Amino acid sequence: MPSTNFPLSGFGSVAVHSGHTADGNYAHLTPIYASSTYVFDTAEQGARRFNGEEKGYIYSRWGNPTMTEAEQKISALESFGVKDVPGNPLQVKTILHASGMAALSTLIISTLKAGDKILSHYSLYGGTQELIDKVLPGLGIEAIITDLRDLNLAEEEMKKDPSIKMIYLETPANPTIQCVDIEELSKLARHHEIKVAVDNTFATPYLQQPFKYGVDYVFHSTTKFLNGHGTAIGGALVGRDIAFMNERVTKVHRLLGGNSNPFDAYLLTQGMKTLEIRMERHCHNAMEVAAFLEQHPAVSKVNYLGLTSHPDHATAMKQMSHPGGMLSFELKGGLNEGKKFIDKLQMCIRAVSLGTCDSLISHPASMTHFGVPKEKREKYGITDGLIRMSVGIENVLDIIKDLEQSL
Ligand SMILES: Cc1ncc(COP(=O)(O)O)c(C=O)c1O
Repeated sequence: MPSTNFPLSGFGSVAVHSGHTADGNYAHLTPIYASSTYVFDTAEQGARRFNGEEKGYIYSRWGNPTMTEAEQKISALESFGVKDVPGNPLQVKTILHASGMAALSTLIISTLKAGDKILSHYSLYGGTQELIDKVLPGLGIEAIITDLRDLNLAEEEMKKDPSIKMIYLETPANPTIQCVDIEELSKLARHHEIKVAVDNTFATPYLQQPFKYGVDYVFHSTTKFLNGHGTAIGGALVGRDIAFMNERVTKVHRLLGGNSNPFDAYLLTQGMKTLEIRMERHCHNAMEVAAFLEQHPAVSKVNYLGLTSHPDHATAMKQMSHPGGMLSFELKGGLNEGKKFIDKLQMCIRAVSLGTCDSLISHPASMTHFGVPKEKREKYGITDGLIRMSVGIENVLDIIKDLEQSL
């Protein structure tokens, strides 16, 4: 473990070392603390832990050393090199959750109340869209969904409706790979005293750090690129208002009970150590795959942010260091040809989820976005023929060979 005085200058070093606390038994890696509760020396000490006078673990729904390491690592990566308003290194707090959706639930319940509205871009992860359509209205929280790539439209909405209390951005978005301008939308939101939350799952902090642009919350499905190996479902909620995170958000997280667990947190921590090199390779491979697909006669459209043909290429390049490992495409023969193509794959894996070492291919209309009504899907660009690909870190020649023989 590097000395705490040793200033780590690169993202890769922070990914490897940050968050770790020396183990009392000299274990190299933080062990999986498979313990639901923690012991008090005296009743007095128990009372001090509960009232916050003494730091220490109490009960694993509230926190656990293996989970703390993953939380601290995510905080370090999301804030690496980012300054706060006075120019000091930004401090953020992360709370690990059982899933991305659990982290999102904590975010919404701790920050919004009945009568409040969310402003969001169309093209969201299907589960998020369903939460907005089928669960939040029951809590009195409505969403306005529009094209947030049009900043005039975004500002119109903010001016028109003072009940908008949160702008929720998923950029790049699942599965159309659309991007919205985090910096410009955050400026507008600040002006109208609206909080901004960004789902950074597709980009990861290696490619994009939303806190640089002043957003209030970053949220992850850690199931994806952060874990990187498809070994555990998980989520993280990261906030820059430390007092609010420590009080209101922590309280809601503890009471809703969407906590992570030590085994999943351990897997996540090990996965995050290689985030930089994995993302480099995902991005390199995705660029080659996108270029291959774009020139293939059976393909009618490729959505990849690295292609200048993507309408959001400029926005992506402004806020992301590389265009990412996710793409989607349509075949000329539509749904029928798409199904045949998916069935013929020999190496790429037919599965939902994303961000694993192996390439994953899915069909959003019948899988991740099955619960979103067809008219809505089509309006948002999620056509029946759209195929989503999470480009893995295999040798790119093998990925292209498999796509070619399937096409
Ligand atoms: C962009 C995005 N956000 C959130 C989620 C939800 O995360 P989880 O499945 O970990 O609950 C997903 C899941 O696919 C996703 O793709």
